[in-house]
Amino acid sequence: MERELVGIFRSLGYQAVEGPEVESEFFNFDALNIPEHHPARDMWDTFWLEGSLGLEGPLGEEVRGRLLLRTHTSPMQVRYMVAHTPPFRIVVPGRVFRFEQTDATHEAVFHQLEGLVVGEGITMAHLKGAIYELAQALYGPHSKVRFQPIYFPFVEPGAQFAIWWPEGGKWLELGGAGMVHPKVFQAVDAYRERLGLPPAYQGVTGFAFGLGVERLAMLRYGIPDIRYFFGGRLKVLEQFRGVL
Ligand code: DAH
Repeated sequence: MERELVGIFRSLGYQAVEGPEVESEFFNFDALNIPEHHPARDMWDTFWLEGSLGLEGPLGEEVRGRLLLRTHTSPMQVRYMVAHTPPFRIVVPGRVFRFEQTDATHEAVFHQLEGLVVGEGITMAHLKGAIYELAQALYGPHSKVRFQPIYFPFVEPGAQFAIWWPEGGKWLELGGAGMVHPKVFQAVDAYRERLGLPPAYQGVTGFAFGLGVERLAMLRYGIPDIRYFFGGRLKVLEQFRGVL
């Protein structure tokens, strides 16, 4: 599933990059406009790590601060922007972690696919176009997309999106998206400045999205329980060999 998604975006000109699963509070939260004590942090139940590993920043510099298991792939937006100048199109597949009570739709470990496109004149229309292309690639010409407003601290406006699955006859609620919040660009340029790099994110706009990979696979293959993915049951593994 992850390979299929990355393949779709590669064919649309996106580059696939990966980031660390052990992340700092700064990249996972602060730089994404989620300050400490902000209620928005409650959206992500976090596994905090004790002690201090030597964590590397986007340019190999030492990163200080509290460490955690990344709760989403969004911190890679910041890491990538610090180390690159726009325009670019990237997707970031990866494993994420939530300190959750597990049930049929919640698991402490799952995968996301993050997307980020930054350049001059990027608009919400480009975001809709990207998700539309994804829908077409997954479910053909009868598929369509739906966007509804929702809050995420690192985008403004923010949206949740769904893809119409023609054979299943239903909307698949896949993830969140939106236009990159100016505060994220500011945090990136401030960090670049600290590393002695010139600002690179003035006068550009961008869109971002993030979707749950297991969720899409569950809906597509009729898998009733997310815990099957990491349960290691042979019946499940054999049935989906080479597919998931
Ligand atoms: N990081 C969000 C989460 O895990 C998902 C998300 C929402 C990613 C909006 C985005 C975005 O890039 O624009 O809940």
